[in-house]
Amino acid sequence: MRTKIVLLAAALAATHGLASFAAVGIPGEWQHWQAEVEINNLASRQRGARNFVAYCSGCHSVKYLRYSRLAKDLDISTEQLEQFLLPPGAKASDYMTTSMPAADAATWFGIAPPDLSLITRSKGADHVYRFMKTFYVDPSTPSGVNNLALEGTAMPHVLASLQGLQTAVFRNEEHRGEGGKPVTVKAWEKFQLDVPGTLSEAEYDLFVGDLINFLQYAGEPAQVTRQKLGVWVVLFLLVFTSLAYFLKREYWRDVR
Ligand code: HEC
Repeated sequence: MRTKIVLLAAALAATHGLASFAAVGIPGEWQHWQAEVEINNLASRQRGARNFVAYCSGCHSVKYLRYSRLAKDLDISTEQLEQFLLPPGAKASDYMTTSMPAADAATWFGIAPPDLSLITRSKGADHVYRFMKTFYVDPSTPSGVNNLALEGTAMPHVLASLQGLQTAVFRNEEHRGEGGKPVTVKAWEKFQLDVPGTLSEAEYDLFVGDLINFLQYAGEPAQVTRQKLGVWVVLFLLVFTSLAYFLKREYWRDVR
């Protein structure tokens, strides 16, 4: 019995631990940078929603989420919703669509900005984190920036005023190609901050983290409730198991 409880407690701890995993970035290797997802951090999700509306919703929709649902889940009052989040003319029951017509967007950027409802589920939170962190100056592109995580991206660096503008320093690496022929590959070495933004690197990390927590929530609005409910379900099962066990002992005492 005791082992059973220990096992269940371990399972409980494990599922709960999944809710927030810490960042373990390897310096110098952007491919290994990881987002610090804290889905239970309400304040972070609130900031993320505000920042999304301020910086992203001009181009991107989160079309499966209604403003009213967002307000309810994120503990945002009707007054705050109307004052800070609702676009002019929109109702609380509206979905979070973008005001930019897709056809115009495709003409302006060459590709329409995707709906971001499921982006952290389809490409992963870490990818979004690397994407938001690795814009660098590249005069050969129409927007003047390029991106390590999405080479040749059509998205301009909309957070440049916050992060600043960085150039990428590359080095040439020799690799063995087909048939053992040496090929030179351009490998990223580091970023160099040319124009500082209004945020420090740590503050920018937090800013991006808030956005990711919001997007992670938007990908499955019920997940926070689900996780909280899950804890109660496991607790109930624990209590029920012990009750059933004692009941069984009580019955079998008479049989023996
Ligand atoms: C000026 C319009 C514009 C704004 C504002 C904008 N984006 Fe984008 N975004 C785009 C376009 C265009 C693409 C498509 C890029 C591509 O596929 O090359 C895109 C793509 C993306 C992608 C998908 C990247 C991938 O790997 O496929 C993510 C994630 C993203 N944007 C996040 C954001 C976030 C977060 C914000 C707010 C901070 C934001 N965007 C603001 C235009 C915009």
